[in-house]
Amino acid sequence: MTFAGKKIFVTGAATGIGRATACYLAAEGGHVFGAGLDGDEGRDLAASDTTGRLAFYESDLTREADVQTAVAAARERLGGLDAVVNCAGIYPTGKRLEELSDEDWDQTIAVNLTAIFRVCRATLPLLRAAGGGSIVNIASVHADATVPGVPAYAATKAAVVGLSRQMALDYAVDRIRVNAVLVGSVATRMTLDGLEAAGGAEALGLSFEPNRIARIANPREIATAIGFLISDAASFVTGSAMQVDGGLLSRLL
Ligand SMILES: NC(=O)c1ccc[n+]([C@@H]2O[C@H](COP(=O)([O-])OP(=O)(O)OC[C@H]3O[C@@H](n4cnc5c(N)ncnc54)[C@H](O)[C@@H]3O)[C@@H](O)[C@H]2O)c1
Repeated sequence: MTFAGKKIFVTGAATGIGRATACYLAAEGGHVFGAGLDGDEGRDLAASDTTGRLAFYESDLTREADVQTAVAAARERLGGLDAVVNCAGIYPTGKRLEELSDEDWDQTIAVNLTAIFRVCRATLPLLRAAGGGSIVNIASVHADATVPGVPAYAATKAAVVGLSRQMALDYAVDRIRVNAVLVGSVATRMTLDGLEAAGGAEALGLSFEPNRIARIANPREIATAIGFLISDAASFVTGSAMQVDGGLLSRLL
């Protein structure tokens, strides 16, 4: 798959799935503008890039001003946008609903949902000006099934699917496709920290073995699926919630 000439905005690009996606898209010809927290990792990403097509801009996407500045910087560097990948997210665990403070709840909604709303609001005019484009919003298997103690996370990921479907409908007229990805377990710090807290992968029935259903993915395996949704090969794919979960949601036990 080639992304030659495509201009792509990727959030959460400093680490994990966002970083793998930014690297993959740039390596395959895309011009990538990464935005997000974790500035040290982000600067390392930009410094280690050998393609000359990858930039990183440190920004807290829960702040409207940061969203505006990052999108303006992307427009200035790339001259427009063809695609947006919303990867930034947080995964607070270990609290049932009654134990959540307003701050806990608001922070998860702010990163996992409101930031997507704001990034889409700021970038849609650029996609429209390009004659169309593709938005990929990273949801999770938690949209459909969940584990104990993640009420705000599960709620936001289900909402991301609903928002993506709605946007697909509303922006088809502008030739803008919008899809969500139901990501399973991926070997990033988000999962590895969570697994440690839950007593390890085996306690959850997950495995790192490559031939297992519901094994843990390498972030690049998510990046290539995101790449498909961005690419022209997915020209008829919009409004979908694509499972990229190694069969996790198919598992009964
Ligand atoms: N790792 C998994 O198993 C898994 C499973 C399902 C879904 N996901 C989703 O994939 C996405 C990426 O997660 P990951 O696994 O790569 O973990 P990660 O922690 O490596 O990446 C999350 C990124 O979001 C960024 N971020 C957090 N708050 C931000 C803010 N306020 N503003 C800007 N950036 C912010 C972080 O800097 C980080 O780079 C998330 O949306 C996550 O919910 C991950």
